[in-house]
Amino acid sequence: MLSHEDNELLTRTNAGTPMGDLMRRYWIPTVFSEQIEKPDCPPVRVGLLGEKLVAFRDSEGRAGLIDERCPHRTASMFFGRNEECGMRCVYHGWKFDIHGDCVDLPSEPPGSTLQRKVKIKAYPCHEQGGLVWAYMGPAELKPEFPELEWTMIPESHCYTTRHIQECNWLQGLEGGFDTSHLAFLHRGTAEANRRVVPSEYAIVPTDFGFMAGTGRVLNEGEISWASNLMCMPFHKVFATRPEAAHVWVPIDDDNTMLYSVDYWPDKPLSDEDLERSTSHHGIHTQNIPGTDIPINNKSNDYNIDREFQASGDSYTGIKGLGVQDCGIQESMGPIADRTIEHLGVSDTAIIQIRKLLLQSLKDFQAGKTPPGLDPVSYRARSTRFTLRDGESFEETIKEQLKRDYESVAAE
Ligand code: FES
Ligand SMILES: [Fe+2]
Repeated sequence: MLSHEDNELLTRTNAGTPMGDLMRRYWIPTVFSEQIEKPDCPPVRVGLLGEKLVAFRDSEGRAGLIDERCPHRTASMFFGRNEECGMRCVYHGWKFDIHGDCVDLPSEPPGSTLQRKVKIKAYPCHEQGGLVWAYMGPAELKPEFPELEWTMIPESHCYTTRHIQECNWLQGLEGGFDTSHLAFLHRGTAEANRRVVPSEYAIVPTDFGFMAGTGRVLNEGEISWASNLMCMPFHKVFATRPEAAHVWVPIDDDNTMLYSVDYWPDKPLSDEDLERSTSHHGIHTQNIPGTDIPINNKSNDYNIDREFQASGDSYTGIKGLGVQDCGIQESMGPIADRTIEHLGVSDTAIIQIRKLLLQSLKDFQAGKTPPGLDPVSYRARSTRFTLRDGESFEETIKEQLKRDYESVAAE
């Protein structure tokens, strides 16, 4: 349970809000590189942290992200002409480059000084892992791009999709670390579920966020652990095979763009892996063509099949893990009311997320650098392992983190 004030603090990300300002200190995914495939191709609308923007690729192939509103009289740059290294507003021809500088102002008389003064809001971009990332914070504090493993591997090792969740970003992130729901929401009958509910939960705070451990008793004296990474402010990396990652990016306070990745760090995805990834029964959704909206969405109750639900083969009657997550997280309302919850032991990681974010906000407002901005700090790996009685999850994780960083140092 959270106070109303803390719930507001954690969920609101528009410019000028504490969480919005904190999030703007990190690199944020905007569009797939292939959405702005070629120089001078049509621009794409982007919603990010409550801001309406337009992404484009200029004549030199550089990605740009500018305000959708033209600074002249606020027409949409989405209708603009992307030509000769800049976006030209089609209302009166004002033209801006990827840095936001006005490079042509044909509607004003010769000698006008307006061109030097007027700028459009523009954010620096960086392309990696098949995505265009933007930095929306103060220019002098721009960090190096983080060494997030799935963004550093060849294209063949990685399958990435995205879809819109019609709810606040924190609902998505919390759902991602809510491991006990795996035994219910994504399963079959209730009886089978009781046997796979995890019994152990552990958290190891790190300098990038935390490692969240979920343990299941295997045999007497043996616990099988899965450890997932929470990388500030909205990343999850988890130990499935192939490995997987999510990024929950606020479009605005009521909508989130969820990026989902399947990847092998050291080899291409096999045909079998790809078949599984593209089957849409997993974390990836099948979207309405030309949009990021899942075909099974809130407006059609996710095409819930009540017979399928009664059959014992599906807890929800909703097909696909990604759609099940959307369905249930959106059902909590655009911004969940955390003042009326009742949390249990199985919510350990969720409690930790809130603590970490609230502490990070407090430190940030006191002038400290937010966690995870050192580019190597994301280089930890998610894992699975079995421990016997007396062996500590925390110690094992600390050893593993040491090895991860040493392997980076050796490269
Ligand atoms: S509104 Fe864009 S040039 Fe006038
Ligand atoms: Fe889920």
